[in-house]
Amino acid sequence: MAKAPDACHIPHVTGSFASIMGLRIAVVGATGNVGREMLEILSERLFPADEVIALASRKSMGMEVSYGEKTLKVKDLETFDFRGVDLCLMSAGGKVSKEWSPKIGATGCVVIDNSSAWRMDPRVPLVVPEVNADAVLGYDKLNIVANPNCSTAQLVVALKPLHDRAKIKRVVVATYQSVSGTGKEAMEELWTQTRAIYVNDPIVKEKYPKQIAFNVIPHGGDFMEDGYTTEEWKITVETKKILDPSIKLTATSVRVPVFVGHSEAVHIEFENPIDDEEARELLRESPGLMVIDKREDEGYATPIDCVGEFAVFVSRIRVDPTVENGLALWVVSDNLRKGAALNAVQIAELMLNRGLFKRLAAA
Ligand SMILES: NC(=O)c1ccc[n+]([C@@H]2O[C@H](COP(=O)([O-])OP(=O)(O)OC[C@H]3O[C@@H](n4cnc5c(N)ncnc54)[C@H](OP(=O)(O)O)[C@@H]3O)[C@@H](O)[C@H]2O)c1
Repeated sequence: MAKAPDACHIPHVTGSFASIMGLRIAVVGATGNVGREMLEILSERLFPADEVIALASRKSMGMEVSYGEKTLKVKDLETFDFRGVDLCLMSAGGKVSKEWSPKIGATGCVVIDNSSAWRMDPRVPLVVPEVNADAVLGYDKLNIVANPNCSTAQLVVALKPLHDRAKIKRVVVATYQSVSGTGKEAMEELWTQTRAIYVNDPIVKEKYPKQIAFNVIPHGGDFMEDGYTTEEWKITVETKKILDPSIKLTATSVRVPVFVGHSEAVHIEFENPIDDEEARELLRESPGLMVIDKREDEGYATPIDCVGEFAVFVSRIRVDPTVENGLALWVVSDNLRKGAALNAVQIAELMLNRGLFKRLAAA
């Protein structure tokens, strides 16, 4: 499959900042799935950095992580002084973010947070640059910008051009989420259980309530009073905040035994007519998207195809004849990239291009 970055028009840093000076950047959660990917993407996209600092919990102090060709020694978040740091890419879970993001923001450092801690806070913009870039301007109330849930990020990139063209009324989505979305220990659990089945060892369940190897689990996060899970609720409320509060959305979130790459079966009902051909052309021209849609063997994207890619892949575009103005799609992306680290770095690029880092703007 062709490499996506150039084909799917994801703009990098532009303008004079990129060539003049760089930022001091801290990555919190640098030993985790998302943190490691953040370091990789900062380097891949040549994000202008004078210094990159890797932070995690005390137990990881001194551990080494890669930043491009360089190796960084991990420091302890608890004892780190954020004064003089311009940007903090935070991916250490909701509890750590609740405590630390406002403190870090108060030092003047901009925090781009991957957890769910701040996403629905009205003082914090929730941003997917291809969809609602202007919302980032509201960052300065707490100096925090939130990154959406991985399933929401890839979904709204695909929905945005269709919504602009034919106005979405309702979306029904079923997710097929990989275990890397639950962190590095969940990947270990899939691996260990798979091995245990082959060598006849007992199955140990720690991260998931049911066996994940050779199984699927219709349960993400916690159950709510109405029967939905918090993972499903996040997709609904975050899509409304990012794209349009008038969109009705119902989700079923399912964990599948895939290491990396989330997939989504999406059914959309529009206000106005739109057919599959028009949708295909529109999506082909839209930022961040790669359409792989041939009605033949291998004519569609699967999670394995999207690992390490920047794009959100759209396949299986077809008319849903059971509703007026209906379309069905298959949307796949690397959850550690567009679903987390890439989106965070794109937000940083957006802020840099708009001159929103105060120290650089004053220089
Ligand atoms: N994975 C995804 O697809 C995805 C997508 C969107 C958002 N997110 C969010 O991103 C965050 C990180 O996810 P992940 O998948 O990278 O998890 P992970 O692989 O489990 O990594 C967690 C990271 O947080 C660090 N950490 C934990 N407690 C800490 C503490 N008290 N102080 C400092 N650092 C601490 C860990 O450091 P140690 O190694 O030292 O414990 C590790 O670096 C979560 O909020 C998650 O919801 C993930």
